[in-house]
Amino acid sequence: MRTASILLLLLLGMGTLAFVALPKAKQGGKEPGKAPSTLPQRPDLRLLLSGHLDGKLEPCGCASAQSGGLDRRAFWLKAHKHEFDLALEGGNYIHEPNPLEKEKFMTTLMVLGATLHYPVLPLGARDLRMGIQELQDFHEAFGPPFLCSDVYIKTKEGPKPLFGQSYRIVTHPKAKILVLSIAGKDSWEIPKDLRLLSPVEAIERALRAARKTGFDLVLCFVHSGGSETAARIARTAKGVDLVVSVDGSHEAKTKARVFPKKGGRKTYLLFPGSEGRYLLKADLKHAPKGWELLQLHKIQVPAPRPKIPGTLPPGTDPETHRLLRDLKVQITKSDLLEKMAERKDPSGGSYAGSQACKSCHEEAFAAWKKSHHAKAFETLQRRAKEEKVWSPARHPDCVICHSVGYGERSGFRSAEKTPQLMGVGCESCHGPSRRHVAFWTRNKGKKVEKAGKERAKTPRQARVACYSCHTFEQSPGFDFTERWKKIQHK
Ligand code: HEC
Ligand code: HEC
Ligand code: HEC
Ligand code: HEC
Repeated sequence: MRTASILLLLLLGMGTLAFVALPKAKQGGKEPGKAPSTLPQRPDLRLLLSGHLDGKLEPCGCASAQSGGLDRRAFWLKAHKHEFDLALEGGNYIHEPNPLEKEKFMTTLMVLGATLHYPVLPLGARDLRMGIQELQDFHEAFGPPFLCSDVYIKTKEGPKPLFGQSYRIVTHPKAKILVLSIAGKDSWEIPKDLRLLSPVEAIERALRAARKTGFDLVLCFVHSGGSETAARIARTAKGVDLVVSVDGSHEAKTKARVFPKKGGRKTYLLFPGSEGRYLLKADLKHAPKGWELLQLHKIQVPAPRPKIPGTLPPGTDPETHRLLRDLKVQITKSDLLEKMAERKDPSGGSYAGSQACKSCHEEAFAAWKKSHHAKAFETLQRRAKEEKVWSPARHPDCVICHSVGYGERSGFRSAEKTPQLMGVGCESCHGPSRRHVAFWTRNKGKKVEKAGKERAKTPRQARVACYSCHTFEQSPGFDFTERWKKIQHK
């Protein structure tokens, strides 16, 4: 991890765990002369919620009008500080524990912690999979306000909460908020020296431990198991006002699920969406028992990006933008591109490159050659020239869809080492076909049935391949029939 460079920032920004004043709301007085019953109720507390960043520090720029981006969020938070009291982010900051995501995690800490002063950093199971020891060491040395309520360390004196505390109190002038975080199991191999409590047990324990401190509102992030797990927790947990489901669903929901509890208290289940696309604003009001949710409002983190790379786009915060750019510069200079190649599928087939198909599939080759796919890597190189200081052609997050088989055995490694696999090639859709090439070179004129395992992917499989790259984010509204016409082989 790029620890050294960020230590200072963290120490300066959040070395102390105390709540660093986030923008406070203006305490506007009531307007006289108007019938209060016709006015919308004035909230006592306005929270801004988000989570499941999933490594999306900023949108990729493949399509126009994408939302998200920490630099845009930072701008919004600073420009609209009177519109909310407190911003809280759930965990799962990273997509999976790999060297690239670890770098992104560090930058995320710098942005959320040191620059934007988020008072708590709950960790999801994905974050914990980066390595407990490493996170603990980091926490002990620099004290970022990590939080995890359901993971305990086994010690001789009994189980101790990870990061020392199973809850965090955020003290705001308007309310003392108790924050909890359920990491959950996900696909995590729990280390032997740790114990994972059930969500309900974890919540009960944390509430017991916090009783002496006193608090007004209890908010619990839930990171694993999807919305159903979060709903189960919201239904059963006692003493929790808000459950925030950090379940990876793209869209924020402006309707909460409500679970009435004994004694008139309610637990609300909220979905803030993922990947930093939205900030979900929750307007809350004190009720005789607990809190009343007045309304939810989703703020899309928007701002158009101009087409001038290398300049500061409007609607972005310069400081955060610089941090994100520094990360990209560092990735460009590092050996991450090659380190991240050949990570998965060691048993997978081997790639031949599109040129190797030309001799037998001339028509398909000619059609492909003039398609945008063939030039997809050049797109990255062109962008690199414009950006000057960093290169998407050396960034695993871009190369993955703009080359053939990056991350797989014998797939793309770098422009220098595997030039035959630059761009979206035949095998991006038809699968690794080296053996197919060898078979037909040996067996010219044989019947197709004889090819058996050496057949390339069927048309049907090839059609499904589109969706691995033309996703919700990169290709909004992708329609196979319409798009295939543009690249069909004859
Ligand atoms: C999940 C796959 C995926 C990833 C990751 C990805 N791209 Fe793309 N990119 C696409 C697809 C698909 C298109 C075509 C979109 C369309 O036309 O619908 C595209 C289009 C583009 C275009 C526009 C090409 C043009 O001239 O119209 C640019 C520029 C681009 N990508 C750059 C990047 C950069 C930079 C990154 C990394 C930050 C990146 N891409 C990451 C899949 C991806
Ligand atoms: C963007 C994905 C994609 C790329 C790139 C691509 N193909 Fe295809 N290919 C398909 C799909 C989808 C089908 C099935 C089309 C259909 O449903 O009729 C297909 C069909 C085929 C077929 C069998 C049907 C036919 O047209 O005779 C061959 C052979 C073939 N492709 C070869 C190639 C070769 C060689 C290349 C590279 C020069 C290539 N393809 C590049 C998606 C792709
Ligand atoms: C030496 C000749 C030869 C080469 C090189 C070759 N193929 Fe083929 N390919 C064939 C033959 C022969 C068939 C089956 C008969 C047909 O339909 O043309 C075939 C069929 C296919 C099909 C249809 C599905 C199947 O397997 O029946 C696809 C897709 C395909 N090839 C893709 C590729 C790709 C991708 C490459 C390059 C990596 C490639 N081929 C290289 C000869 C070749
Ligand atoms: C490995 C990732 C990948 C796969 C698989 C893929 N694409 Fe693409 N596609 C891209 C990228 C990247 C671009 C942008 C290329 C550029 O301009 O740089 C693109 C661009 C296109 C374009 C050109 C944009 C336009 O509308 O003119 C079409 C059409 C297209 N893809 C259709 C398809 C279809 C249909 C499939 C499935 C049969 C498919 N793609 C599979 C990555 C992929």
